[in-house]
Amino acid sequence: MPLGLDTLDFAVLCGLALAVAAYTSREKLKSVLSPGSDSTRVKSMSRDIVETLRDNDKNYLVLYGSQTGTAEDYAKKFAKELVSKFSLRVMCADVEAYDLENLHNVPKDIVVSIFLSTYGEGDFPDAAVPFEDYLSGLNSGDLENVRYSIFGLGNSTYEFFNGAAKKANKLLSEGGAKLLGKCGEADDGAGTTDEDYMAWKEQFMDLLKSELALDEHEQKFEPNFEYSVLEATKNDNTVSLGEPTSQYLPSQKLTYSPEGKQTGPFDATHPYIAPIVRSKELFRCGERNCIHAEFDVSGSNLKYSTGDHLAVWPSNSDEKVEQFLNCFGLDPEVVFSLKPIDNTVKSPFPLPTTIGAAVRHYLEITGPISRQLFSSIMQFAPNDTLKEKLNELSKDKDQFAKEIHVKYLNLADALLYLSGGAKWDTVPWNFLVESVPHLQPRYYSISSSSLSEKQSISITAIVENMPNPTSEKAPHVTGVATNLLRNIQLAQNNESTSVLPVHYDLAGPRNLFSTFQLPVHVRRSTFRLPTNPATPVIMVGPGTGVAPFRGFIRDRTKFIEQQPSIALGKHLLFYGSRDERDFLYQEEWPEYSKKLGESFELVVAHSRLPNQPRSYVQDKLIEREDELFDLIANEGAFIYVCGDAKGMAQGVHAAFLKIVSRGKKCSEQDAAEILKVFKSSGKYQEDVW
Ligand SMILES: Cc1cc2nc3c(=O)[nH]c(=O)nc-3n(C[C@H](O)[C@H](O)[C@H](O)COP(=O)(O)OP(=O)(O)OC[C@H]3O[C@@H](n4cnc5c(N)ncnc54)[C@H](O)[C@@H]3O)c2cc1C
Ligand SMILES: NC(=O)c1ccc[n+]([C@@H]2O[C@H](COP(=O)([O-])OP(=O)(O)OC[C@H]3O[C@@H](n4cnc5c(N)ncnc54)[C@H](OP(=O)(O)O)[C@@H]3O)[C@@H](O)[C@H]2O)c1
Ligand SMILES: Cc1cc2nc3c(=O)[nH]c(=O)nc-3n(C[C@H](O)[C@H](O)[C@H](O)COP(=O)(O)O)c2cc1C
Ligand SMILES: *[C@@H]1O[C@H](CO)[C@@H](O)[C@H](O)[C@H]1NC(C)=O
Ligand SMILES: *[C@@H]1O[C@H](CO)[C@@H](O)[C@H](O)[C@H]1NC(C)=O
Ligand SMILES: *[C@@H]1O[C@H](CO)[C@@H](O)[C@H](O)[C@H]1NC(C)=O
Repeated sequence: MPLGLDTLDFAVLCGLALAVAAYTSREKLKSVLSPGSDSTRVKSMSRDIVETLRDNDKNYLVLYGSQTGTAEDYAKKFAKELVSKFSLRVMCADVEAYDLENLHNVPKDIVVSIFLSTYGEGDFPDAAVPFEDYLSGLNSGDLENVRYSIFGLGNSTYEFFNGAAKKANKLLSEGGAKLLGKCGEADDGAGTTDEDYMAWKEQFMDLLKSELALDEHEQKFEPNFEYSVLEATKNDNTVSLGEPTSQYLPSQKLTYSPEGKQTGPFDATHPYIAPIVRSKELFRCGERNCIHAEFDVSGSNLKYSTGDHLAVWPSNSDEKVEQFLNCFGLDPEVVFSLKPIDNTVKSPFPLPTTIGAAVRHYLEITGPISRQLFSSIMQFAPNDTLKEKLNELSKDKDQFAKEIHVKYLNLADALLYLSGGAKWDTVPWNFLVESVPHLQPRYYSISSSSLSEKQSISITAIVENMPNPTSEKAPHVTGVATNLLRNIQLAQNNESTSVLPVHYDLAGPRNLFSTFQLPVHVRRSTFRLPTNPATPVIMVGPGTGVAPFRGFIRDRTKFIEQQPSIALGKHLLFYGSRDERDFLYQEEWPEYSKKLGESFELVVAHSRLPNQPRSYVQDKLIEREDELFDLIANEGAFIYVCGDAKGMAQGVHAAFLKIVSRGKKCSEQDAAEILKVFKSSGKYQEDVW
C-alpha cells in the first residue's frame, strides 16, 4: 500500500475504533482499581449519607475525592474553617466512604461542597470512580434539591486540566443541582494551588454567608477529636510507635505463611513491609544521586504488572523530627489518643501512639506550607507581635511568597524564622495533629518486569536534595522518601553516611523495618505494552522517565527467551541525560541489544556535553521523523512517554505534532486531533509526573 493520506486515515479510524475498545477495558480496569470498599463496608456503621448526617446532627456536607491527599487536605481545612468561623456542624468525608445513591435526599438546607482532584488523563481519583459512576447515571432533575460547590485540584501541565472536577460539575448541574459560586480550579502547574484555593474560598464563603444567613466570628479551633494523654508507656503492646497500620502492632495477630512471611492481602490501606534486597547508586557524578532499589515480595502474594507503580511509605528524618518537636516544645514520649467526636470522623492513624511517632511517621512536617495554615495557627501565637505578623502574611500573598515561599521554609522553619528562634509552645498538639497534613506514600514507576522477575520489584528514584539558594535557616531542601532511600542504599552497601544532609531511623517502630525494609503497596496503572509483540513501540523517557521502559525491555527480553520463534516489532527507546555520568543503566542496554537484536534500538540525547550543542529527546525524534511517521502511520506503532510532565512531555508532544502534521501534510491542529484519538485509544500513553 502506498504511503499517504489514506493509510493514516485508516490508522486514525482504527484508532477511533480502538478507543471504544480501550474505553471498555479501561472501565474494567477502573473497577479493579476502585478499592472494593470491602474493608470500609465492614468497619463503618452506616454507609447511608443522609442517615449519617441526621444521626450526627450535621448541617453541612463536605466531600472529597483525592489521590495523594491534596484534595483531602483542602476539604478538611475548608470544613474546619466553616466550623471555626460560622459554627456550622460540618461532616467531612471521602466520597468512597459512603453510598451516595440517595444524595438527592440530602435535606434542602444542607449545602454540599465537593473537592476533587484529577488523575491519569482527566480521570477521577481511584477511590472516586464509584462517585463518577453515580454521577454518570443521574437523570435530569434527580438532584433538584441539592445546592453544591465544587473545587477542583489539578495541574495545567496536563492536557485535561481539572478534567474530573469539570466533568463532575457538568453532571451535577445536568442532574439539576444548583451550583453556588464558581467551579474552582486549582493549578499546581502554575504553583498556585494555595492561592487559587484562597481566592475561591474567600468569594465562596462570602456568598455562603448570605445564602445561609450565617454569623461570622473570629476563628476558634473546634477539635474533631477528644484528645487525651494516656498513662501508658511506649512499652505497651497496644501503643503504636509508628506502625503503618494497627495490623502491625504486636497486640494484633497477623497471618504469616509457614516461612514467616505476612500474607496480606495488601493494598493502599495495608502495605506490605518489603525487604530491600539490593540497592545501588546509579549516578557517577557525585553531586546528584539516583537510587536503584529492589524490593523482594516473594511469599507475600503481592502481584504487579510491568508498567505499574510502587507506592513507598516513608517516614521523616531525625533532623526534621527534632526541629518540629523543638519548635513546638513537644515531648516525644507522651502517649496520647484521639476519640472522634462523632461517627463522621475517622481516626487518622493507628492510636494510641506517641507524639514522637506521630511526628516521625504520620505527619507531613516538611514541604511548603499554605497561607491558610498561618491564618488558623494565628490564634495560638505566643504574643501579639507574632500574631500580627502571621495575620499580615496570611492576608498578603506577595509578602507570603517573598518571606516564606521562595525561601523553601517548612512550617517549623517559618515559625522559628518569624520568632527569631523562640519556641511556639503555645500551639497545642491536638491542633497540630488536626491541621498539619498527613504523610502520604510516594509513587515510583516500576523499573522491573513482572515477566522476568515476578518476585522482585525495582524502582529508580532521583534523590531530591538541593542547596537552598536563599536561606541559611534551611540549608538543604530535601525530599522525604528519596533521602530515606539513599540512606538505606548507603547503609546497605556499607558506605559512609556522614555526607548525608538528613538521617533516618532505619530500624523503624519495634525494629519492624530492620534490616532495610519499607512498607509498600502496588498501584495498578494503565501503562501497558501492546499485547501483540509484533507491534512497533516508540518509547520516550529521559532521566528517571526511563524507569518503566527498562521494565518494558526486560519484559520483551524474557518473552523472546521463552518464544524465540516470534518476531518482535521495532522497539525504539529515546533516552536523555546530561552526559555519561548520569546515563541510567548504561551497562545494561548493550545486553538487551544482544538478546533482542535489530528489534531494539536505544537513541541517546545528551544535554550537557562539553563543547556540544544541547540535545534533547525531542530533537532526536525530529532527526528520525520520516521513520517515526512510517511506524505510526503504516505500522500501527504505540507511543509511550514517561518522566517530567512540564517541559519534557510537552516538548515531546510538540515533536510528535510536527512529525504527524508534516508526514500527513495536515495542519498542526488536525495533528493534535489525531494525537488526541491516539491518547484516548491507548496508542499514545503517558506516565508523567
Ligand atoms: C505516577 C508517579 C510516578 C513517579 N515515578 C517516579 C520515578 O520513577 N522516579 C522518581 O524519582 N520519581 C517518581 N515520581 C515522583 C515521586 O513520587 C516523588 O514525588 C519524588 O521522589 C519526591 O519524593 P520525596 O518524598 O523525596 O520528596 P517530597 O518530600 O515529597 O518533596 C517534594 C519536593 O519538594 C521539595 N521541598 C521540600 N521541602 C520544601 C519546602 N519547604 N518548600 C518547597 N519545596 C520543598 C523537595 O526538595 C522535593 O523536591 C513519580 C510520581 C508519580 C505521581
Ligand atoms: N513534574 C516535575 O516537575 C518533575 C518531574 C520529574 C522530574 N522533575 C525534577 O527533575 C529532576 C531530575 O529528574 P529526571 O531524572 O527526570 O531528569 P534530569 O536528570 O533532570 O533530566 C534528564 C534529561 O532531560 C533533559 N531535559 C530537561 N528539560 C527537558 C525538556 N523540556 N525536554 C526534554 N528533555 C529535557 C535534561 O537536560 P538539562 O537538565 O541539561 O536541561 C537531561 O538531559 C528531579 O530533581 C525532579 O525534581 C520534575
Ligand atoms: C500522575 C498524575 C496525573 C495527573 N493528571 C492530571 C490531569 O489529567 N489533569 C489535571 O488537571 N491534573 C492532573 N494531575 C495533577 C493533580 O490533580 C494535582 O496535583 C492535585 O493537586 C492532586 O490532588 P490529590 O493529591 O488530592 O490527588 C496529575 C497528577 C499526577 C501526579
Ligand atoms: C514576641 O515574641 C518574640 C519572640 O520571642 C519577641 O522577639 C518579641 O519581642 C515579643 N513581642 C512582645 C510584644 O512581647
Ligand atoms: C556490610 O557489612 C555487613 C556486616 O559487616 C556484611 O554482613 C555485609 O555483607 C556488608 N555488605 C556489603 C554490601 O558489603
Ligand atoms: C505540576 O506541574 C508542575 C509544573 O510541571 C510541576 O513542577 C509540579 O511538580 C506538578 N505537580 C504535581 C503534583 O505533579
